[in-house]
Amino acid sequence: MRKIAIYGKGGIGKSTVTSNLSAALAERGLTVMQVGCDPKADSTKNLMGGRRIPTVLECIRDKKDQVRLEDISFRGFKDIVCVESGGPTPGIGCAGRGIITSFEKLEELRAYDIFQPDIVFYDVLGDVVCGGFAMPIRDGYAEHVVIVTSGEMMALFAADNIAQAVHNFGKLVFGYSALNMVTMGLSQNIGFGRTPSKCDYEKAYALLERFGIAHLAEHSCNILSGGELQMVLIARALIKEPKILIMDEPESNLDMRNQLVVLNTIDRLNEENLSIVINTHYPDHALRCAKKTLIIGHREHLFGDTPQVITQENIRWFFEIESDIVQASSGERILQGIIPLDIVRKSAAG
Ligand SMILES: Nc1ncnc2c1ncn2[C@@H]1O[C@H](COP(=O)(O)OP(=O)(O)OP(=O)(O)O)[C@@H](O)[C@H]1O
Ligand SMILES: [Mg+2]
Repeated sequence: MRKIAIYGKGGIGKSTVTSNLSAALAERGLTVMQVGCDPKADSTKNLMGGRRIPTVLECIRDKKDQVRLEDISFRGFKDIVCVESGGPTPGIGCAGRGIITSFEKLEELRAYDIFQPDIVFYDVLGDVVCGGFAMPIRDGYAEHVVIVTSGEMMALFAADNIAQAVHNFGKLVFGYSALNMVTMGLSQNIGFGRTPSKCDYEKAYALLERFGIAHLAEHSCNILSGGELQMVLIARALIKEPKILIMDEPESNLDMRNQLVVLNTIDRLNEENLSIVINTHYPDHALRCAKKTLIIGHREHLFGDTPQVITQENIRWFFEIESDIVQASSGERILQGIIPLDIVRKSAAG
């Protein structure tokens, strides 16, 4: 089941786009459910032949605990399951609260188990940013967010606001299992509205095995350590079998152990002849992992073999730090580390 939340500025065309998508996918033979999350309750009217359907909130108001699934869900064009959450009159009460109540009611009546939709669209009201607004992307409801916009300034402004709000709720989207997170790397190959095949899952599992974290396959990404999550995300990139892996600070914000987990993974992938470009704040890590290094300063840069680039002189010049480069051995391998000694002014850095 794919769950997709559609956002956008008020009046931009969300309900029109959502209904067209529902219709197109239903015509392809998928079971589709469209949930209007707007007090206007007009999301599904085009699918219902212009008919306005009773909303979940109205039914709860009228029937209290006696609400049945058939009171709030209606079959529209091509048997699309249509639901409208409804909500309070503008200015009286919170529209977001209406969405939350409706979602709870749909869960309680086991709507998803009973209809077994392949696709659920949540058509979300445009101008509210609150807990209700976030509801469709919380707690494992929608996995994907589509923002409808135009080139008009206010529509882009709203799209930017929504994108920021979605980003802030992003951590909650990490409720996926590690295995599902890895298969997401294949979403372009799998195609819209399709779910990963058995073979895709096997491939994802094999990658987790290769990183020694297969036992975490069914764990939610929310509860993984920083290092484990990075490994899952690296696996998600690798499942596409890239020729080059570009990593933007993969080891930042990790504790020492998890940094090592990531660096060891990079070493291992490098031994397997994968080309890796890694952007890092730590020259030590370049010394450890990279054959070639590019240092980018304010006005100049330096590129070459790592031992020639990461030197005490260059660290002093580019980072304004006096340092010592020390060596230690680990088995057969000689490792180097940088000990920062003091901050120097560039004018004195030579
Ligand atoms: N691509 C389009 N071109 C021209 N008109 C459109 C297009 N899409 C939608 N419309 C028209 O724009 C109006 C608003 O569309 P719609 O109700 O889908 O917007 P909405 O984003 O859902 O609005 P709201 O935020 O109020 O729910 C409707 O009259 C619709 O027919
Ligand atoms: Mg609408």
